[in-house]
Amino acid sequence: MYRTHNCGELRLQHIGKTITLAGWVQKVRKMGSITFVDLRDRYGITQLLFNEQLNTLLDTQPIGREFVLQIKGNVLERSSKNNKLPTGEIEIEVTDYLILNASATPPFTIEEETDGGDELRMKYRYLDLRRPTLKRNLELRYKVNRSVRNYMDSMGFWDIETPYLINSTPEGARDFLVPSRMNEGQFYALPQSPQILKQLLMVSGYDRYYQIVKCFRDEDLRADRQPEFTQIDCEMSFVEQEDVLNMFEGLFKHVFKDVKGVEIVDAFPRLTWADAMWNYGNDKPDIRFEMKIKNLKEKNNTHCQVLKHTDFKVFNDAETILAICVPNSSEYTRKQTDELTEWCKRPQIGMTGLIFVKCNTDGSYKSSVDKFFNEAKLQELAAFCNAKTGDLILILAGNENRTRKAMSELRLEMGNRLNLRNPDEYKPLWVIDFPLFEYDDEGKRWNACHHPFTSPKPEQIHLLDKANMYGEIKANAYDIVLNGTEIGGGSIRIHQRALQEQMFAALGLSKSEAQEKFGFLLGAFEYGAPPHGGIAFGLDRLCSLLGGQETIRDFIAFPKNNSGRDVMLEAPSTIDNKQLIELGLEVKHR
Ligand code: AMO
Repeated sequence: MYRTHNCGELRLQHIGKTITLAGWVQKVRKMGSITFVDLRDRYGITQLLFNEQLNTLLDTQPIGREFVLQIKGNVLERSSKNNKLPTGEIEIEVTDYLILNASATPPFTIEEETDGGDELRMKYRYLDLRRPTLKRNLELRYKVNRSVRNYMDSMGFWDIETPYLINSTPEGARDFLVPSRMNEGQFYALPQSPQILKQLLMVSGYDRYYQIVKCFRDEDLRADRQPEFTQIDCEMSFVEQEDVLNMFEGLFKHVFKDVKGVEIVDAFPRLTWADAMWNYGNDKPDIRFEMKIKNLKEKNNTHCQVLKHTDFKVFNDAETILAICVPNSSEYTRKQTDELTEWCKRPQIGMTGLIFVKCNTDGSYKSSVDKFFNEAKLQELAAFCNAKTGDLILILAGNENRTRKAMSELRLEMGNRLNLRNPDEYKPLWVIDFPLFEYDDEGKRWNACHHPFTSPKPEQIHLLDKANMYGEIKANAYDIVLNGTEIGGGSIRIHQRALQEQMFAALGLSKSEAQEKFGFLLGAFEYGAPPHGGIAFGLDRLCSLLGGQETIRDFIAFPKNNSGRDVMLEAPSTIDNKQLIELGLEVKHR
């Protein structure tokens, strides 16, 4: 037997017992003739005491950080207790020890705060995973996973696996492809999601399916994106949007209670996509703080009278003028406003400038456009924005899409600067009534806003005949948003062949292309497809938010770096010529 107890287990009640522990050496402290060692395993840390006699042995058989030890010893009450450790009231007087395995000096410290840089820690991920921070994250992920499974089970959902070697699934990213040896010149695509397969399961009658499943998307990586990530993928039959929202609001509340002990009693707010864009400038609003956008002018409609007749060319030429009122910031210095202006001019934000109006606490107004707006006009503008004394009004003007996006970013930035985005506060909401299509300016075509299997609002189906009305059609699609991150999205699906064909046609697919790519689905719809709908959540994102962080990487045991590489496994890598020949492939460099 390697151990009688683990390193997190022993307490005062064990005093006098002879025990055996096994674990890793966290720390060695020599104090004169005795040595203290912290022994660590997944469960915790226990202090070991090597007395004078054993100390001599330590001289001939030295131990160091990350050595694997087995020790026998007696549990003693500690004279100086450590109330930060659950085992802090006891220590083990070691009577015997065995080095189970030595360790080279680790390339970085394996502590809560490490001195190792990102790439180094990724290369030695198996060591980084020993750190308490990562251990806590993976424990949280395990708990979320378990909690989701419990809820889904209690609601009668079946966990059904779907294949990874399939064909392209239209979720909007590039596919990862796998060449087939047995079918030369042909490729599988790894699923971007099990979307079509779960719909087919509904056709097969497996109402209430779910799966915690890997999805693969070859897209630009960001803090909340990995090329392979995990979805909690769900589908139900004979449901309307309301049924799906209620079911999964329940899942959320269950997981929050279970994992974080947070009880969310109220129904989640619901915001239409149009309102989200109008008030927050994006479809995943962070509603932990207000600072809503004021639409002074949008798409060439001037709503704020004082901007109607001005000599200020920037405003006159702008398609859209948006503002936010930043509370208690009218005392911003010139340096601060200059810095903020530079922030808006960065390429990621892409604005040519920033205009501000200070609503001073003495009742006066001062702005960066005093030349064009006297104090009375500034006051009128401030009144339109519902600005309060002490507010700093920030204004962006320009083209509709860019300005709205920039203002959305600026709002979040000011939220950060004012500490209004508390990671321990959770504000989920539903965003509903998404557009069915979005226009791709570059490709000059309409794309599905969600995916091509999403149904239009029934009362707008007739608009599918009119290409000039595509922009007006709303979908039975919904997203769940938490603290400014989209953590799930779904829709009520199309379940009739004719409507699905119409949808493909609207997306520019010819009849034969639709048949070639999705013939099996269209065929399935002819054999009694039930009305159905579902949703998928990003498990990695959910875990990172529950862990109070924005990056999903440290909630995944073995993630990829920003270039999509696993620097520990050195993947991707080149393959042998022999393998290429077997696959009938030849590599040509671009
Ligand atoms: P969607 O594409 O919105 O929907 O994906 C669902 C959720 O998955 C998460 N997600 C990601 N997480 C990490 N890295 C990525 N690269 C990544 N991409 C997406 C997000 C997102 O909300 N089949 C549909 C769902 C449905 O209609 O039922 C789908 O995949 O949190």
